Amino acid sequence: VGYVGRERQQDARDVLVGGLSNLEYRGYDSAGVALANGDVTVVKREGEVDELVGALDERAPSSAPVGIGHTRWSTHGEPSDENAHPHTDCTGEVAVVHNGIIENYDQLRAELREGGHEFESGTDTEVVPHLIEEALEAGADRDAAFRDAIDRLEGSYAIAAVFEDDETVFAARQDSPLVIGVGDDGYYLASDVPAFIDYTDRVCYLEDGQFARIDAETMSVTDADGKPVETSLSTVEWDAEDAGKSGYDHYMLKEIHEQPRALRKCLRERVDGIDGSVDLDLDRLDDADRIHLVACGTSYHAALYGAQVLRERGVPAQAFVASEYDRTTLAGETPLVIGVTQSGETADTLGALRTARAAGAETLAVTNTVGSTAARECDQALYVRAGPEIGVAATKTFASQQLALHAFALWHSADSIDPERIDALRSLPDQVQSVLDDADVESIAAEYADSSAFFFIGRGHNHPVALEGALKLKEITYEHAEGFPAGELKHGPLALMEDDAPVIALVTGDGERARKTLNNVKEVQSRGAPVIAVTDGRLDVEQYANHVLTVPETDPTLAPLLANVQLQLLAYWIAARLGRPIDKPRHLAKSVTVE
Ligand code: G6P
Repeated sequence: VGYVGRERQQDARDVLVGGLSNLEYRGYDSAGVALANGDVTVVKREGEVDELVGALDERAPSSAPVGIGHTRWSTHGEPSDENAHPHTDCTGEVAVVHNGIIENYDQLRAELREGGHEFESGTDTEVVPHLIEEALEAGADRDAAFRDAIDRLEGSYAIAAVFEDDETVFAARQDSPLVIGVGDDGYYLASDVPAFIDYTDRVCYLEDGQFARIDAETMSVTDADGKPVETSLSTVEWDAEDAGKSGYDHYMLKEIHEQPRALRKCLRERVDGIDGSVDLDLDRLDDADRIHLVACGTSYHAALYGAQVLRERGVPAQAFVASEYDRTTLAGETPLVIGVTQSGETADTLGALRTARAAGAETLAVTNTVGSTAARECDQALYVRAGPEIGVAATKTFASQQLALHAFALWHSADSIDPERIDALRSLPDQVQSVLDDADVESIAAEYADSSAFFFIGRGHNHPVALEGALKLKEITYEHAEGFPAGELKHGPLALMEDDAPVIALVTGDGERARKTLNNVKEVQSRGAPVIAVTDGRLDVEQYANHVLTVPETDPTLAPLLANVQLQLLAYWIAARLGRPIDKPRHLAKSVTVE
């Protein structure tokens, strides 16, 4: 986060701390700020932003017009006060914050050491202020010194710097997001919009290779050669209230409850109940007879679901973990490649999309973030419209991704849309609302919170949601959880069945898949493991389950979206029971911009 106030309207410290708190979901093992008020004062601490606030009360200047700040998710060097950003040069003239990874830092560090530079941290970032210092000593002015330093870096970065006796923030980006906010009171800079959405919704996204310089009166953006770039401002649709907790104890719970609204927004003006058509405002992809979906984490589960719906519509489609996707996966073909990424900034997913583009494939971003790197680099973008999601564990964005991909599958195979499917889609937001209204998960969560492990099983369209249920639970409770295709249970995992390890079974519909899953439930029950069934009641699961969580009946392809709400609530209430920091689970970050 960076800030330069015009006529000193706001204290940079307040803006930076507020911004960092709103960005904590990007990383939270340490935090720090550099305030420029003549001198540059750096205050940084291991721990969350609250720790930093205490330190600032003791050490920060009474007010400062300019500053930069950072929350860290460590890559090089463990979380500690020394490794927290900002980092400075030997003289303390310049302070730098950085997201990303500097790949040639070892070599740069060795060269700088030979030149007499001493390092205080184990980070890759610390080479940057020293490179700037060296360029300044060689006679460069600050602009040139900043540029020279950046030119020597290999890797990914969003970097911001402030200097003593200067009311300017310098910034550069390569493969790591950076956006400028244009306020009435000054300029803001951040890796994501929530950092300054309280102050302005007018933004300018920087592109890879660009440099920016903001002072009280002007913002200038230049390309890698130093030539001015014409910038365009866009308006962000989120408002500050969207980004608050609205009385819920956690963002995650708020975001679970926002799903009906998110799903309505996802469908608005896209799915027409009268003529049964789907209009996604995309150019036709007539050549896309084969589709690859690439994604990570929760988005990968949405991609698995999307691939199934596409295949069910007769379109050959396959989902891949983005970090495993390379040219060999393409095998000489050029399918349409869909990147599913709520943030639009996940480095692994961007890498897979770039591989696909380099091989000549057409690309589509399915993302929640307008202006994100994925949205800008892909040929087209389909926005899932979930609104800002702050909790690290993805909830409403997962539901919106599934729905957007489902709508995409119908649009792409538009010849045979059946009106009943359209009706089912349109009823989904109300049905999710009814699951939320009737949910009664807390007592089950209390009963099983101390279990030794949790297993999730589902078949067909419920399989990705079984995986997601396990991921959600492990992310926020730190308990062992695994998801399986229900049929796989008997091929190994049955050996793990114990009376203190519940199996959460997704049994929706009454077709062959549901009946087979019911058989798997019986296998579990006869081995003494407790069963929590999520069901629409079409099959008689109740007699084989210790507990039943119900969902309304819908089209079998949409039932997983309803079942998932119960799984989200189960994970949430177990984590609450165990006293976990639900919105900010240890070691994780919401968007991981390194590979
Ligand atoms: C991180 C988060 C996950 C998320 C994944 C993909 O690992 O902790 O919750 O699912 O990134 O994020 P994306 O923004 O690409 O959907």
